Amino acid sequence: MDMKKSNRRTFLRKGVSVSAAATAAGMVIPGRLFAKGTFDEDDQGDLTRGDIAILRFLSAAEQVETDLWTQYSELGGTQDNEVSGVNGGNTLYSAALQLLDGDMSQYVHDNTDDEFTHHRFLNNYLESKGAKPVDLTSLSAGLPSSKATGARQIPRLTNLTQLTVDTSWWTRYRATTNPDLGATLANTIPSLAQGKFTAIPRTDADLGNSTLSNDNSQSIDVRLKAIAFTAGFHFAFIEQGGTSLYATLAQKVTSLEVLRILLSIGGSEIMHFQTWQDKAGNATPLTFTDPVNKSTVTFDDLTKNQPEDLQANLIMPEPCDFLDKRLEPVSIIRPTSSKLGGATAAAKSFLDDGLFIGQSKAFIHKFFELAEEADEARRQS
Ligand SMILES: [Fe+2]
Ligand SMILES: [Fe+2]
Repeated sequence: MDMKKSNRRTFLRKGVSVSAAATAAGMVIPGRLFAKGTFDEDDQGDLTRGDIAILRFLSAAEQVETDLWTQYSELGGTQDNEVSGVNGGNTLYSAALQLLDGDMSQYVHDNTDDEFTHHRFLNNYLESKGAKPVDLTSLSAGLPSSKATGARQIPRLTNLTQLTVDTSWWTRYRATTNPDLGATLANTIPSLAQGKFTAIPRTDADLGNSTLSNDNSQSIDVRLKAIAFTAGFHFAFIEQGGTSLYATLAQKVTSLEVLRILLSIGGSEIMHFQTWQDKAGNATPLTFTDPVNKSTVTFDDLTKNQPEDLQANLIMPEPCDFLDKRLEPVSIIRPTSSKLGGATAAAKSFLDDGLFIGQSKAFIHKFFELAEEADEARRQS
């Protein structure tokens, strides 16, 4: 193991908080994925090792996204015979989400279907090139489903009930500074970034005293509003991750076709993020303490009397510094520098978000291993 790799593994051990034993090099992880060990030259098809590593991490990230979006869609998405909604939904949770926008159910459904196709396409492409597809299911602890009306009772890869949501994405695209140039951005909803919050109803008790009558008049309990608004901010958190991730990794690929894949899927992540960052700001003011997680969230009205870097309708990316301040500000996706960690940073953001609370060490270890291998990729001439 060279020094660079050793340092990275040390960082991972610290960042991941899994036991040293679990992260020790050479750990044997059961499952189909590892039947042949890590990559060898035979697995490369006509792609470089780096391109395969990038595609495999993206496939893993898309599988994680698919899992969490499916949970959202079962409860809050439009219910139809497509992938993301088949179980009748949870009408009160859907109504609570619709406080952010009347079309939320459709958007949740469609974001879910998009993630499913991203994961499937990346795996199909890998296989078409003779490389191994990614499926983390066999490593998963099988996290429990929500017991609320509408959720299927199937094992999950992600936990949406103890989230700590980084909301700095709100200022990221409203500020004129750039994380690539060292800018740090404050959390817009500071309480969401501190406690643990559920973004889905765990049981029907989380619906509180919400009611929906036949004439469509509704009363949504503050308990359920807090959950739906948490989801609203979480949606954008997830999709801004993809927005930067694809742009960062695109700079490391060698094959033009793989570059095309990253630019094309990455663009759809940007479309997702842009939608969600428009909706979250419609949250109405409230303060609520979750009786299960004992965490208190406060949402403020972002639509009134806010400075420009918080203003709700300022949803077009504000021009920011890029490469060199002397070039003058420009409207761009940010950050896109691999110096901030690229795939590993994305994996760590999922972990810090609480998505993997309860998940197996083997699952988390594999996810970070795939991220590390993607970050090691270098463009070949
Ligand atoms: Fe995606
Ligand atoms: Fe996405």
